[in-house]
Amino acid sequence: MVNVAILGFGVVGSGAAEVLTDNRRVIEKNLGETVAVKRILDLRDFPDSPFGPLVTHDFNDILNDPDITIVAEMMGGSHPAYDFTKACLEAGKSVVTSNKEVVANFGAELLELAAKNGARYLFEASVGGGIPIIRPMVNDLASNEILSVNGILNGTTNYILTKMLDEGADYADVLKDAQQKGYAERNPAADVEGLDAARKIVILAALSFGKLLNPNQIYCEGITKITAEDAETAKAFGCSVKLIGHTELMDGKVLAMVSPRMVPCSNPLAGVADVFNGILVDANMLGECMFYGKGAGKLPTASAVVADIIDIVAHRGKTERAPKFAVATESDYADMSAYATKRCFSFENTDGAAAKIKAVFGDVETVTVGNRIAFISEAMTEAQAEQKAAEVGLNLISRIRML
Ligand code: HSE
Repeated sequence: MVNVAILGFGVVGSGAAEVLTDNRRVIEKNLGETVAVKRILDLRDFPDSPFGPLVTHDFNDILNDPDITIVAEMMGGSHPAYDFTKACLEAGKSVVTSNKEVVANFGAELLELAAKNGARYLFEASVGGGIPIIRPMVNDLASNEILSVNGILNGTTNYILTKMLDEGADYADVLKDAQQKGYAERNPAADVEGLDAARKIVILAALSFGKLLNPNQIYCEGITKITAEDAETAKAFGCSVKLIGHTELMDGKVLAMVSPRMVPCSNPLAGVADVFNGILVDANMLGECMFYGKGAGKLPTASAVVADIIDIVAHRGKTERAPKFAVATESDYADMSAYATKRCFSFENTDGAAAKIKAVFGDVETVTVGNRIAFISEAMTEAQAEQKAAEVGLNLISRIRML
């Protein structure tokens, strides 16, 4: 029997205990061994839970227990999650996690520490919730060079955008709903301002290009300025609006960014709705490959955490290929100001607007939506887009990058 400990008995932590218990038979069948929860660390007590008697408030009860060989960290936040992870790895215990903040901030160091101590550090649930994406990128795409990754990486914002834009629902109501369903971060600003997606895209960029960028140092724009009129405008061009994490190499340096994008309906990401995530990886031999599934929520995310536990047990004593990446230095960051994309511009539709637009942007096709006139430009940098928009001399309503 394998004994595991759970750090953090919140939405995902309690989900992991549930998966290990409710799916005990199938796990035993697949693994040939039983996996049991021995201790749970949390600040709270859970007298009404069947797992209540396993709760401890003292991390040392787990760290010093030689029977516990695998620790599942689902506390969220950097500290003390990082400190506990480090202590477990130093003690030779393997750690699995759903904590994208810790992976994005300290993943390179923790992987190195795991390797040094004969332990493993796995983080399948840190990106895409329950979707298998980390293991496929490390193993199944190992014969490929990754060209780019585009992903809808945050379930909460995709849920909000879908309900707001397709059903006209109120922003605050949908956010509350997402919180009740356990999708949103403790501080939902991390969802709506894009930081959660930024953490996930830097993890995917690290797996793709070997450099772990600082999520606070990449371009990051959330969904707070997106309106129902933007969605109407997108529809007029056969597109939908999504919060996209994007990474690629530019002149040998890593570009990673998060921003709302207009996604043409011909792109499979356009149809990813509600809490679902979609990750489109472009690999040089395989071509495009889409990973799709539930990107947040208790049991989907917990299922990925438990898959990592099973992986560790199944490969015990063998040397598994671990992801390898280094902390990025300043010279690894691509110059965002040189990044060019097409954009959808929307201006206030006043007299002679179409002629003024064409005088600056050339013969673009314009559409009118409510009080706005919109068109899709050629690819241009942020500075060029700003300069040209100013030259038009109309009131700019919005400027959204195209995917
Ligand atoms: N708040 C995150 C989301 C949870 O909505 O995607 C999963 O990482």
